[in-house]
Amino acid sequence: MSRRYSFDDREVVRINEFKKQYPQWSCEPLTAQKRAIFSIIRDKNTRKDEFVFYADRMTRLLVEEALNQMPFERTTVETPVQDATAPATKFVSKICGVSIVRAGECMEGALRAVCRGCRIGKILIQRDEETLEPNLIYTKLPSDVAERQVLLMDPMLATGGSAIRAIEVLIDQYNVPEDKIVFMNLVAAPEGVHRLCKRFPKVKVVTGVLDDRLNEKGYIVPGCGDFGDRYFGTI
Ligand code: PRP
Ligand code: URA
Repeated sequence: MSRRYSFDDREVVRINEFKKQYPQWSCEPLTAQKRAIFSIIRDKNTRKDEFVFYADRMTRLLVEEALNQMPFERTTVETPVQDATAPATKFVSKICGVSIVRAGECMEGALRAVCRGCRIGKILIQRDEETLEPNLIYTKLPSDVAERQVLLMDPMLATGGSAIRAIEVLIDQYNVPEDKIVFMNLVAAPEGVHRLCKRFPKVKVVTGVLDDRLNEKGYIVPGCGDFGDRYFGTI
């Protein structure tokens, strides 16, 4: 029998505990729509084209949430109605995206769809499959990145090593202020959230879903497997 979805109280309590500990972290309780999308993304039998479609769709929803973390200012607009003005808000700073290559590139299309002409930099980091340590290989960022709000993108936050390395590059090599970085990820392990939020308390983190744990190989459980391999079809 079909029924309307109601929130799982335990999930809300768990998310709220993390939010209390890390006010810079946000993760909205899953709506029925998001739950259905994640179910397809997680399913090992989902075909590549379906995986790409639903991962893109979920990323689009997450980009909208991440944009709420950007600074706005209050203003007013005149409406077409005579002598009428309405309260309004507008973005106060320029933004740019930075993807952690390879899997972070999967999120670029959703950002472009929402922010027309958005500049996008790349940081190529590969996680060593044995040691789980991140290896920084290549960086190319807009020259004025330090003056922009940076939306850092990677679908998976596992140990947190890759995201931390990318944020170190932004802060130490490109002088991006810590509080101008928003890190967006679709699936996070608690271990990664703890490590990242403790290391960079001013970086805002927007997570799609908080999973249970990491396994001994550094995969998120239940997770969705190797995101990049499934998205690009390199399994
Ligand atoms: C994956 C993922 C993250 C990283 C997360 O990338 O896209 O970048 O692992 O793990 P961590 O939090 O433990 O660092 P991977 O290095 O496997 O490369 P890929 O993007 O080519 O799949
Ligand atoms: N990277 C992935 O793609 N999946 C995981 O579960 C962990 C890291």
